[in-house]
Amino acid sequence: MQEFKKLFTKIKIGKMELKNRICFGEQAPQASHGFLTQATEDFYVERARGGAGLVMVGGTCPDISSLGTESMARIDDDKYIPGFAKLAKRMREVAPDAKIGIQLMHEGRAMRPDEAGAAKNMHPVAPSPVKFKFGVVPHELTIPEIKHLEDQFVEAARRVKDAGYDCVEIHGAHGYLIGSFMSPYTNRRTDEYGQGPENGSRFACEIIKGIKKKCGKDFPVLIKLNALDRLDPKEAPMQLTPDIIVAIAPYLERAGVDEIHLSGGTHEAPMWSAVGPYYVPKAAFADYAAMVKKAVNIPVGVINRINDPILADELIVSGKVDLIWMLRPLVADPELPNKAKEGRLDEIRTCIACNTCHDILCQGWFHETRCAVNPDAWREGVAHIEPSLRTKTVLVVGGGPAGMEAARISAMIGHKVTLWEKDNKLGGLLNLAAIPPLKGEIMSIPRYYNAQFKKLGVKVELNKEATPALVKEMKPDVIIIASGSDTFFPPIPGIDKSLVVDARKVLDGSAKVGENVVVIGGGEVGIETAEWLGAQGKKVTLVEILPVIGELMVRDVIDYVIDQLVQHKVEILTSTKIEEINNDNIVVSDKDKNKRTIKTDSVVVATGAKPNKKVLDALQGLAKEVYLAGDCMVPANIRVAIHQGNMVARMLY
Ligand SMILES: Cc1cc2nc3c(=O)[nH]c(=O)nc-3n(C[C@H](O)[C@H](O)[C@H](O)COP(=O)(O)O)c2cc1C
Repeated sequence: MQEFKKLFTKIKIGKMELKNRICFGEQAPQASHGFLTQATEDFYVERARGGAGLVMVGGTCPDISSLGTESMARIDDDKYIPGFAKLAKRMREVAPDAKIGIQLMHEGRAMRPDEAGAAKNMHPVAPSPVKFKFGVVPHELTIPEIKHLEDQFVEAARRVKDAGYDCVEIHGAHGYLIGSFMSPYTNRRTDEYGQGPENGSRFACEIIKGIKKKCGKDFPVLIKLNALDRLDPKEAPMQLTPDIIVAIAPYLERAGVDEIHLSGGTHEAPMWSAVGPYYVPKAAFADYAAMVKKAVNIPVGVINRINDPILADELIVSGKVDLIWMLRPLVADPELPNKAKEGRLDEIRTCIACNTCHDILCQGWFHETRCAVNPDAWREGVAHIEPSLRTKTVLVVGGGPAGMEAARISAMIGHKVTLWEKDNKLGGLLNLAAIPPLKGEIMSIPRYYNAQFKKLGVKVELNKEATPALVKEMKPDVIIIASGSDTFFPPIPGIDKSLVVDARKVLDGSAKVGENVVVIGGGEVGIETAEWLGAQGKKVTLVEILPVIGELMVRDVIDYVIDQLVQHKVEILTSTKIEEINNDNIVVSDKDKNKRTIKTDSVVVATGAKPNKKVLDALQGLAKEVYLAGDCMVPANIRVAIHQGNMVARMLY
């Protein structure tokens, strides 16, 4: 069993003792007209139950001037206290030994009055009138307005305490109001709230002192800080850097702050810096946290891409940090702390940092945030599983993401489940999705399901094709078909020539390509195949008929992948149609119908997928209940496949 040296040891933040070093935070709670929704309540209760030492309810609005969106939770009035108190009570019922807090977040200049779901008639405020890249010029706060906001933070913290929470956090990171005072890019003032460590931290320090005065010196105040802004230096020659934050930290400590944790990036930086997708190194801010730790005598934590409890332990053992903050890893698996402590590491559903959750939020679908690998996230209240009254024999055909999730849920309901996979391993297309650069962590998904199947008694049979004869012999009550999809080959003249290959076969190594390659299709598969081939030094041209590539991909990912394509000198042709494929070239035409011939050794087809209905046709009628899930119904992505597998199995009561 994995031995954790430090992760599960106690630690004190001020006088508050945590049972372990894992802090859950911070995710803006979903609210309706300022009040927490039922889904938010249920979501946080599961995070408390999962074993984290501290559960921090995320960005909550301390003043009306911060109300970026209608769906933001508010705590700027006493009428919001009962809702938070109810959540506190529920969290304490399931986890009496966990500590709980609320993060106060003022969006400042990052508020976007024009975004989808924005609250009406709001105008952002900031230390200086520096236009927000994706928004407007904010109002420059006067000194009386700054003092008023400080009072509002203090009153909000008082409500946090009155609602029964153990501590409060102020959000000083990601370019929001408090952080924008600390960054020389956004703070151009020349008064006592202007630049420099003392002036730049004054707003935060006065809030901390005010909270201590109002709530008592033993009421812990935590702060999240940016180690760096990570803005484009051409646009922002002066910006927040680690040395500035190291100089600021002692001022915050003297003001009374009890803990500091480090993040990085703002909404104006490439998004990956604040919510690191899969290609960002894990624990990228840990070295900066270590610098801050040397400058203060209070606990210091770090957040961002720490999805592995072994790494979390190592970071503490190395002395870099005292605490590990996790958001997405505990969205993917709220039970990560308990599972790690009990040595059940294989059972952890690992966050693959696909940023689906962040993408949905950034598109303005605040109440629809979802996790690709955990379909129950934000649906905890309705996702509870009751045992079925009647045990059925369930045959799942296909061990891709949809089939595996369907098998897991069917077994949890109490059915007798067998899964047949025609390949020699589980995973289906995940085995290919994990091949492009830095995508290997996708293989944690079949690892998780393998562990679940052992635990739940799902009988997995590999190298087994579902023929009607075998199914008739088994006589299942239910068949869930998750037979996946095949590459769609568009009807282009020459598509049947020998230089044309299926992208899937290129990725799995069963088809070889030459040095000059044309990839047709600028969706996720085409882009990542082009990236992968480009990284091997091949001369790649990516052709897409639409005006953009990666239209349906997660925004945080597409910008990076396009950058990779550029670095690997992949030529990207958009609004371009393939006219014909010849033995050693391909003829394309642009939107003005100008034709061009591209010499090529291979043409890789990644123009989407078509459902594999062959299994359905063969097995239809061989059981009382026959269902489809995943790509064989509608080809989509990992999230849709897993969610469909989950949903279909829930119908089996
Ligand atoms: C859906 C979503 C909502 C978030 N909301 C907040 C928030 O309210 N306050 C905050 O400080 N950070 C917020 N963040 C950033 C996270 O707290 C965290 O810094 C980031 O996700 C990286 O950590 P992780 O790898 O543990 O997820 C949010 C991130 C996501 C994905």
